[in-house]
Amino acid sequence: MKELHTWIDRHFSQIKADLFTFLRFKTISSDPSLKAEHQKCAEWLSRYLQQSGCQSEVIPTPGLPLVYAENLSAGPRSPTLLIYGHYDVQPIDPTNLWHTDPFEPVEKKSMVYARGAQDDKGQIFFAIQALRFFMETHKTLPVNLKFCIEGEEESGSTGLSKALPQLKDKLKTDDLLVVDFDIIDAQTPAINLGARGLITLEAVLRGSNIDLHSGMYGGIAYNPNRAAAELVCGLWDEQGRVAIPHFYDEVAELSMAEKALFSKGDVKFIREAGIEALSGEAGLSPIESCWFRPTLEINGLAGGYAGPGVKTVIPSEARIKISCRLVPNQDPFRIGQLVKEYLIRQVKKGIHISVEILHGGKAYRGQADSRLAKAVSTSYEEVMKAPCQKILSGGSIPVVSELMSALHPNVVGMGYGLASDNVHAPNEHFDLERFKMGIMTVVRTIVHLGEE
Ligand code: BES
Ligand code: MN
Ligand code: MN
Repeated sequence: MKELHTWIDRHFSQIKADLFTFLRFKTISSDPSLKAEHQKCAEWLSRYLQQSGCQSEVIPTPGLPLVYAENLSAGPRSPTLLIYGHYDVQPIDPTNLWHTDPFEPVEKKSMVYARGAQDDKGQIFFAIQALRFFMETHKTLPVNLKFCIEGEEESGSTGLSKALPQLKDKLKTDDLLVVDFDIIDAQTPAINLGARGLITLEAVLRGSNIDLHSGMYGGIAYNPNRAAAELVCGLWDEQGRVAIPHFYDEVAELSMAEKALFSKGDVKFIREAGIEALSGEAGLSPIESCWFRPTLEINGLAGGYAGPGVKTVIPSEARIKISCRLVPNQDPFRIGQLVKEYLIRQVKKGIHISVEILHGGKAYRGQADSRLAKAVSTSYEEVMKAPCQKILSGGSIPVVSELMSALHPNVVGMGYGLASDNVHAPNEHFDLERFKMGIMTVVRTIVHLGEE
């Protein structure tokens, strides 16, 4: 550990400079105009991994490029660890709420502010430092190490998903460490043993060919906004459950023993975000509703005029963007189909509705007692000097379930994120002290895996 502290201190200003270079690439995967920026970032990252002691390549996919790297010098008798992360980021809007340029990282009081500072550039970058530590100080690694860093996690991982059948041999591994998660709070470490699945949809409701004068047509034309609002209102029942028939059919009820495995979580972040109205199911705590149960959310509702002042209009169309978070056993496209059929069935007669099912992925669970789980827990405890808990995430990394079916590895999620990092929001930031703990935790994990 002492050697590790010394190495980090000695190299930290260079590490920071390289992190800043990484953060400057505008890799918003949902924006097709930024494709070239993804290519540049992937090439930079691949070169960086080469200079850190790996063989690395940028692998084209039907979507955005993937960065793959490996160092197999430990040999066939040692275990292999695959580290997954992503170099793409979420859009930056609302732009006016950023205090500094999202793609020009700024350091303030040991925090780095930039889009991706935490999710996931900051996190995957500390994992890469672990490789550098071993190669610079020992010239070898105790395990075979692979990196799979994709460029479109934030928009559905389509490229990696489609390329996966051809990449199976390359990515072959015993253990999969997903470095894209949170700890409970700044003092409490936790390994992540699963995330929810996801399915996304968009509905367009059309009432007329063009926008209508709300006086001339008011009382005549049914307003698509009204139809959309009525549809949305019917989606939940009094118990806070999703009211779509068969939505819960496949959900596996958890036993007390399964629930007891997991930390109670920390609910401080709920108050800190200013949340007073709660949305969970009757009889369940907020954390239980978030980790163990599926949900349906309206992510966007649009139609008509919401600009300054007044516009007396009956809009020709309204839009609803929907996503469902899913739990194990639920099939994303089956649930998508249920939602779609419900909307089509329930919408006011005469309003034309088209519903598109977009992308999705299954929920997954890691194994609580794998050697990987033990190695990561022990490492967290060595670094944070507090008992390591077990958590789930209400969020999703849809491609992980596919990596699991293709590679059958042990899976653990880790990271040093906190709910207060503003991921996906203006002024995203990451604490450099947590970044350093991230390096140490990945180094110790590799050491422990090598001891087996
Ligand atoms: N890193 C997050 C997943 C996550 C969320 C981990 C919350 C810990 C807490 C990931 O980058 C993410 O944002 N995933 C998206 C996936 C979607 C856009 C396909 C999500 O969960 O919305
Ligand atoms: Mn994200
Ligand atoms: Mn992420």
